[in-house]
Amino acid sequence: MYQGVLRHYRERLPLTEATPLITLGEGNTPLVAAPRLAREVGCAQLYLKLEGCNPTGSFKDRGMVVAVAKAVEAGSARIVCASTGNTSASAAAYGARFGLRTLVVVPKGNIAAGKLAQAIVYGAQVIALEGNFDQALDIVRRLAEAHDITLVNSVNPYRLEGQKTAAFELVDDLGDAPDLLCIPVGNAGNISAYWKGFKEYHQAGRSHTLPRMMGFEAAGAAPIVRGVRIEQPETIASAIRIGNPASWKLAVAARDESGGAIQAVTDDAILEAYRKMAQEEGIFGEPASAASVAGLFQLARQGMDLQRARVVCVITGSGLKDPDTALKMPQAIREAPPNLAAIEAALGGF
Ligand code: F0G
Repeated sequence: MYQGVLRHYRERLPLTEATPLITLGEGNTPLVAAPRLAREVGCAQLYLKLEGCNPTGSFKDRGMVVAVAKAVEAGSARIVCASTGNTSASAAAYGARFGLRTLVVVPKGNIAAGKLAQAIVYGAQVIALEGNFDQALDIVRRLAEAHDITLVNSVNPYRLEGQKTAAFELVDDLGDAPDLLCIPVGNAGNISAYWKGFKEYHQAGRSHTLPRMMGFEAAGAAPIVRGVRIEQPETIASAIRIGNPASWKLAVAARDESGGAIQAVTDDAILEAYRKMAQEEGIFGEPASAASVAGLFQLARQGMDLQRARVVCVITGSGLKDPDTALKMPQAIREAPPNLAAIEAALGGF
C-alpha cells in the first residue's frame, strides 16, 4: 500500500530517525494523457499531472507533510504561513491532524472561497490582511523571527524538499523525464522544487534526460518576466497573484540551467485553457493551474517545434477550490417547472 511521500521517498528526503513518518495520503497523483489538447497544440504526447488529487486539493501537501513532520520533530507547537489560499488549506489540515496550532494570513478578498472554507473548517486561526500576499509573507516572516512559531511557507527548505517528489513521480511513471515541463509560477517555489527533483533523480541515474522548465506567470503578476517587483499584482488566477516571489533566484536558475523559459500568459488565455481542459479533457483545474496549459498553447503559437515532444503540464490545484470563477463562465442554465413538456421545450425540443 502507498503510504505517503515521507515513507515512499524517505531515502531522498532530509529525514532522521526522529522524524515522524506522518501522512494524509499525499503524493502518488495521477498522470493523465490529454490527447485532444495534444492534437491542438501539435505535440507528440501531452500529460497532465493532477496535483488537485492531493488530500487538500493542491500540490502544497507534498511540501507541507515534510515541513510539518520536521516541525513536530523539532518540538514546535505552532505553525504560520502567508498564503493565496492553498498553502493555508494544507497547513491547516496537517496542523490539525498532527497537533499543531495553525495561524494563516491571507489577502482579504483575494482568496478563492473553497480555500478559505478549508482553513476555517480545519480550525486554523485566520487573519484576512488588508493587503496582498507579498505583504502577508513579509509579516509572517517577521512573526516567525520574533516568536516561537515555525514558518511553513516555501522559504522553509523542507517545503521544496517535499515538493520535489512530484518530479520523481513523473520520471517513475514515464520512465524518463519529459522533454518540457509546463508549470504555473507564483511564489516560484514549485518550479524550483521540480528542477531540484529532476536533477537529483538524474544524478542518481534514474533518468537519462532533464526537461526544459517552462514557467508561466500571469501577465498582471509577472515580476520574473518583467525583471521588476510588481507592487500591485492583478490576475484572475488568485493563487499566483504575487509580485515579489520568494524563490525568484531559484526559479531563474531552474529556467537557465534547463534551457527553459518563463513567460507571461494573459487572464484571457488562462480562462480559455481552463475551459478547454474541462470541456475537452474532463479535467477541472483551478485558474492558476490552467496557466501551464495556456503557456503550452502560447509556445505552440510562438512556433516552438513540439512535434516530437513529450510534454507534462502540472495541474497544481483542483478547480473545486474556486467555484466563483467557474460560475462566472458563460453558461446556458435554463429554469423549468417540473414537467416533461416544459423541459423538452426548454431544451429546444428533441
Ligand atoms: N498553482 C496553485 C494552485 C497555487 O496555489 C500556487 C501557489 C501556484 C500554482 C504557484 O506555485 O508559488 O510555488 O510558484 N500558491 C501559494 C499559496 C502561493 O499560498 O497557496 P509557487
